[in-house]
Amino acid sequence: MASRLDSSFADEVAVVTGGGTGLGLEVSRGLARRGATVVIASRNAAHHAPLLEEARAHGWRVEAEIVDVREAASVRAAAERVLARHGRVDMLVNNAAGNFVCPAERLSSNAWRAVLGIVLDGTFWCSQAFGRAMIERRQGRILNVVATYAWTGMPGVVHSASAKAGVLAMTRTLAVEWARFGVRVNAIAPGPFHSDGAQQNLWPDPEAERAIRERIPLGRFATREEVAAQCLHLLGADSAYITGECLVIDGGASLGQGLWEPGARFTRKRAPAEGGAA
Ligand code: HXC
Ligand code: NAP
Repeated sequence: MASRLDSSFADEVAVVTGGGTGLGLEVSRGLARRGATVVIASRNAAHHAPLLEEARAHGWRVEAEIVDVREAASVRAAAERVLARHGRVDMLVNNAAGNFVCPAERLSSNAWRAVLGIVLDGTFWCSQAFGRAMIERRQGRILNVVATYAWTGMPGVVHSASAKAGVLAMTRTLAVEWARFGVRVNAIAPGPFHSDGAQQNLWPDPEAERAIRERIPLGRFATREEVAAQCLHLLGADSAYITGECLVIDGGASLGQGLWEPGARFTRKRAPAEGGAA
């Protein structure tokens, strides 16, 4: 929770894709509370209304843009409107995503395109449109939201895993390409946390959720606040020398699960002593 005096993002302009729900909402709220002007960008105005309302009540500066990140023209038009209003964009959070569980052999071409379009194309169109303005001003920060299956892989989500792997490569590529323009590009890779989108599409019943939780060494899902706090950290001044990094926030879930239960002990079987009992 930011203190009332925390204005670490004062006078800065942030764009958060998917900023009206789930993690995006929490990051947007955190930036707005700390003084940033936050533009939440996604397809559905109904997803924007709660934060706009909350912002009015608190005196935060939050605006909304209707954007489909899959469409380069939609993203470019939104970028033009934001730049016309503010003349700058200091931070971009590529948080929008689409996902569902489907065996690879049954995935339709539309289904593949839907997820690749949102996650991989969308991250690039937004990075390019807002990145150009950052390059002109010789400063900016981009934060991409990926998932640890970008490098571990995960059965059932080949579309999302492939797209997130692309976003991770994009993060590292742009970090180096745009460093000379003063633009930092990082990523976070959260483990599971609750959001309506994830619940509907990934763990629709308590049994599925329990099975996932049991594979997390810390024994629980992350909270959205915990993940958002790390996003703000990577966007903030304390991270000025960090670029091309991907911060894992998954309670140990992506580390080797091993063949044995953690802490397992077995009775050591010694060879029988010469001439005596075992
Ligand atoms: C198989 C499916 C499907 C499903 C959709 N499709 N859901 N196929 N199983 N469960 C297929 C459709 O049949 C269609 O193909 C194609 O995908 C496009 O579907 P539409 O509904 O027309 O697409 P659209 O309206 O654009 O919706 C996009 C979406 C949707 C990705 C399908 O789920 C969405 O908007 N999601 C946003 C929220 C979300 O997913 N959040 C979760 C984030 S969690 P056909 O061939 O029939 O035309 C996350 C990481 C979690 O990303 C990591 C945990 C560790
Ligand atoms: P969420 O609440 O379902 O958020 C997804 C957001 O993406 C929505 O606000 C949606 O807004 C937006 N979006 C989807 N398609 C879009 C499009 N074509 N154009 C513009 N915006 C679009 O999901 P979440 O769980 O908070 O996920 C946030 C991020 O964390 C994602 O990148 C996800 O992959 C990642 N992540 C989540 C988990 C988890 O366990 N939840 C774990 C690891 C990583 P509209 O519907 O209004 O367009």
